[in-house]
Amino acid sequence: MFGLYSMIIVFFFPNGEGGQALLSPFYSPQVGLPGWMPGFVTAPMLVLWIPLGFRATCYYYRKAYYRSFFWDPPNCSETAQQHEPRKQYNGETALFVLNNIHRYFLYASIIVVAFLWYEAALAFFPGGAFGITVGTIILLVNIVLVSAYTFSCHSFRHLVGGNKDCNSCVNGRPSSNGGGAIKRLRRKTYNGVSKINKTHANWAWYSLFSLLIADIYIRLIQAGIITDFQIL
Ligand code: FES
Repeated sequence: MFGLYSMIIVFFFPNGEGGQALLSPFYSPQVGLPGWMPGFVTAPMLVLWIPLGFRATCYYYRKAYYRSFFWDPPNCSETAQQHEPRKQYNGETALFVLNNIHRYFLYASIIVVAFLWYEAALAFFPGGAFGITVGTIILLVNIVLVSAYTFSCHSFRHLVGGNKDCNSCVNGRPSSNGGGAIKRLRRKTYNGVSKINKTHANWAWYSLFSLLIADIYIRLIQAGIITDFQIL
């Protein structure tokens, strides 16, 4: 559903800024279209592949869509009993081998998250003066949830753990060749990310809905259907 919603924006509503104080997260960061680009390419197209690719290759979403769409493995014990168990796991083969580039989508997503924080902060200063509206609160909650989703990612934990493929390598103890402080820092950040990683699936859903809510809310303001309620 999220993918379909994004596609509609990319092809049918490519110009989202409209000179409004609030910028929908679907249009951040704002990029210009080089003149040599073919006519069918829109500005959101240059950015939206990042969050879409990030979610499509996310370990949690993979589990969900492998199970529900490909029955690999079947998600229901009754269905599983009716099928011969697979001789080998073949989830990450053929086209799905592309899922292994998840970490690169993470790196690109961190840049997008930085822009979303910037846009959320800007929204508190419409016209240069500080102000709080329902819209700014929605954007702030959205970026907190998107950040929780991004930084609870398994690949992020792997990254802050020092890109090691074994957990005990991040033990925090100094080794004979030194590096104790770095190892302790790695261990601390690894453990911190592990805490939010436990609820990664929740952040995946909360952030998905907050993105949709933020976009719809700003779209309704731009259409003149509602006005952004001023709190302060
Ligand atoms: S595992 Fe879900 S975003 Fe990385």
